[in-house]
Amino acid sequence: MKKTLIKNGTLVTAADTFQADLLIVDGVIAALGRDLSADGAEEVDATGLYVLPGGIDVHTHFALPFGGTVASDDFYTGHRAAAFGGTTFCIDFAMQDKGESLHSAVERWHGKSNAKAVIDYSFHVGVTDLNDAVLAEIPALAVEGMPTVKLFLAYKNKLQVDDATFFSVMRTAAKHGILTMVHAENGDVIDILVKEAIAAGHLTPEWHALTRPDWAEGEATNRAAAMAAMAEAPLYVVHVTCAKSVNAIATARAAGQPVMGETCVQYFHFSIDNLRQPDGAKWVCSPPVRTASDQEALWRAVRDNDLQHISTDHCPFFMDGTRDIMYEGQPVRIAGKELGAGDFSKIPNGLPVVENRMPMVWATGVATGRISLNRLVELCCTNPARIFGLYPKKGTLAVGADADVVLWDPKADHTFSAATHHMRTDYDIYEGWKAPAMPVKVYRRGELLVDGPAWHGKPGSGAFTARKAHGEVL
Ligand code: URP
Ligand code: ZN
Ligand code: ZN
Repeated sequence: MKKTLIKNGTLVTAADTFQADLLIVDGVIAALGRDLSADGAEEVDATGLYVLPGGIDVHTHFALPFGGTVASDDFYTGHRAAAFGGTTFCIDFAMQDKGESLHSAVERWHGKSNAKAVIDYSFHVGVTDLNDAVLAEIPALAVEGMPTVKLFLAYKNKLQVDDATFFSVMRTAAKHGILTMVHAENGDVIDILVKEAIAAGHLTPEWHALTRPDWAEGEATNRAAAMAAMAEAPLYVVHVTCAKSVNAIATARAAGQPVMGETCVQYFHFSIDNLRQPDGAKWVCSPPVRTASDQEALWRAVRDNDLQHISTDHCPFFMDGTRDIMYEGQPVRIAGKELGAGDFSKIPNGLPVVENRMPMVWATGVATGRISLNRLVELCCTNPARIFGLYPKKGTLAVGADADVVLWDPKADHTFSAATHHMRTDYDIYEGWKAPAMPVKVYRRGELLVDGPAWHGKPGSGAFTARKAHGEVL
C-alpha cells in the first residue's frame, strides 16, 4: 500500500479554501483534515503552498495531422508539458478520416496514445464524413466511455460538415446522453474571403484574422444554437473568441437552452496586433485572436458563467521547422509555420499553450482580481469534469477521488520561455511573460510526475479513462 501525506497546505476547491492535510492511499484521496497522520506514509510539507485538483483541459490536439504537417507534441511530450503546467487530464479529438468508421478513428488515436500517455486522458470523436453506418455507430460511444462528438462548421473541403450532418449527429447524440461540441465559424464565407484576399495579394498573417471575421464566428454560434434547439440537444461551443459568439451563447442560455462553451487562455491575451508582427505566424490559429474589447467580453463571460471552461486548443507547430530543436537530449525537427511563409492560408493553424494555461489564468485572472482562485479551479478543473462525465473521480479534492493533486507555489516568479518550457516546439507565445504562481509538485493518481524541475513521468503510465454519458449542464 503506497501512502503520501501532504501536510499543512492550503486546499482550494471550486467551493472552499481551507487549511488541511491530504492523505493519498494507492492513488486515491483517502482523507482530508487537520493533523492527519498515517503509518508508513511519505510526508510532504506543503507549508506556504496551495493544493489544487489537477487541471483538466478538454481541448488538445496531440499528433494531429493538420495543415500539411503534424502537431509537434505527441501524447508523451504534450502530456509532459501539460503536467508541468498543472494539468493532469486532457481530452483529445479522435478525428474520422473521409470514408473511415468512427471506431477505426478511435483505434488510431489509441495507437497514438497507448504507449506514450503520462497523464490520464480521453477522446472526443470528431465526425467529418457522415453516412447511415457512421450515424449508427454514435450510440455505442456513450457505453464505450466517450460520450462527446465534435463537428466543424469551418475548414471547407476538409473537416467542415453541412447543416444536415450537424443536425442529424446532434439529434442522435442527444438521445443517448452524448454531448455535441462544435467549432463554430462559417466556413463557406471564410473560403470566399480567403480566396479574394489571396487574389488581391494580401498574404501576410494579419489576413488570417481579416478573412475570419467575428461575424463568421457569431453567425455560426447562433446557427449552431438554433439547430441545437431544433434537435432538442445540448451543445458545447469550443474555442469562443469574441463578444458576438459569447452573446449568441448567452442568448440561448437566457432562453433556457442547454448551451455551454469554453474559451482558450490565449484569447484573453493576444490580438490581431500580434499577427501584424514580423513573427505573426506564431499566433495563427482558428478562430483567430481578436481585439481588446473581445478579450474583456471573454473575461466577463467566464466570470458570469456564460462560458464554463478555459481550455487551450493546444495544437503546436514549429515556427521554423527547417531547424532541429533538442528535446530530452534528442534532436527533433517537424515542419511548421514556415509552410505558410508568403501565404497566410498555408500557415498551419494552431498554438502551443497546454503548459501556459493555468499559470497564465492565475497570473492575469486571479492575481489581477478578475476571478477568484476558487473560480480558477471551477473553470480549469471542476466544471470540465462535471460537463464531460468525469466528476467526482476527477476535478476536485474529495475523499474517494483520484489523487490528481497539484502543489502550487504562489511566490514562484516564473518567466515563460521556449528555452525552459516542456512543449516540443521552438517558440512560446508567452515568451517573457511572468507567472507569479507555478506548480512545484504534480501527482497523477498519487504518482509524483513533476517535482520542481525534475520529471518522473513514464510513457504509457497514463490511463485512458471512461467517461459517463449524460454529463452535467452547467
Ligand atoms: O487553429 C486551430 N484551432 N487548430 C486546431 C484545430 C481546431 O480548429 O481546433
Ligand atoms: Zn477548432
Ligand atoms: Zn481544436
